[in-house]
Amino acid sequence: MNSPLVWAHRGASGYAPENTLPAFKMAADMGANGVELDVQLTKDGEIVVCHDEKIDRTSNGAGFIRDYTLEELRKFDFCNGNIAFEGTKIPTMEEVFDLLEPTGLTINIELKTGEYFYPGLEEKIVDLTRKKGWLGRVIFSSFNHYSIMKIKELEPEAKTGFLYADGTLNMPGYAAENQVDALHPAFYNLQYPDYMDDCNMFDIDVNVWTVNTDAALLKCREYGVNAVITNYPKKAIELYSK
Ligand code: G3P
Ligand code: MG
Repeated sequence: MNSPLVWAHRGASGYAPENTLPAFKMAADMGANGVELDVQLTKDGEIVVCHDEKIDRTSNGAGFIRDYTLEELRKFDFCNGNIAFEGTKIPTMEEVFDLLEPTGLTINIELKTGEYFYPGLEEKIVDLTRKKGWLGRVIFSSFNHYSIMKIKELEPEAKTGFLYADGTLNMPGYAAENQVDALHPAFYNLQYPDYMDDCNMFDIDVNVWTVNTDAALLKCREYGVNAVITNYPKKAIELYSK
């Protein structure tokens, strides 16, 4: 049985503060095949890596990312209560590209445009990915499928996937019709009727989030998904090596 690729969710976020350079480095050191991360735009138009629109949960600051310049955001500590990582700053997307350049890792860039649309984010992320020579190693995803269609329009070569979590009918057909490369379902979406068969028929990759328990990791291997997105890459790699 082929094992899924292992992508570290927000970096190795089960072991280090999420969406930080130490978490991405740790994922690479653990032998993950890729990392998943979330991007947002600062007030001065810089692409930074952070899950929430606000910095309250993951830093010692408060407020919306879009209301801060990059320089202002850099003053906050993103160790998220984990003192072993005290002093960790919010990373820019460019820093993550540079950090992972020497590795063979894939980056799944999730555009956090569901709540706030961040005008220009699609253009900026495509430009940066091209400039850094990363187009072949990135897959773009978003819960906002308009963002993904925009990415495809800007760069037809970009690999793309639709994120979703609901019980929508015929997602494989919808993905094929819109010519994306992948679906990124929540784990529980795998049980919908004929799901894997339909994805295979349409040649749609299935990259599943967030797969953290042994049982779910093993079930994903049984289903034959392309990748699991997990907070625990070390555990997933060990389990799949058995
Ligand atoms: O991309 C998979 C997963 O990260 C989607 O949900 O909320 O963790 O960004 P979230
Ligand atoms: Mg995400």
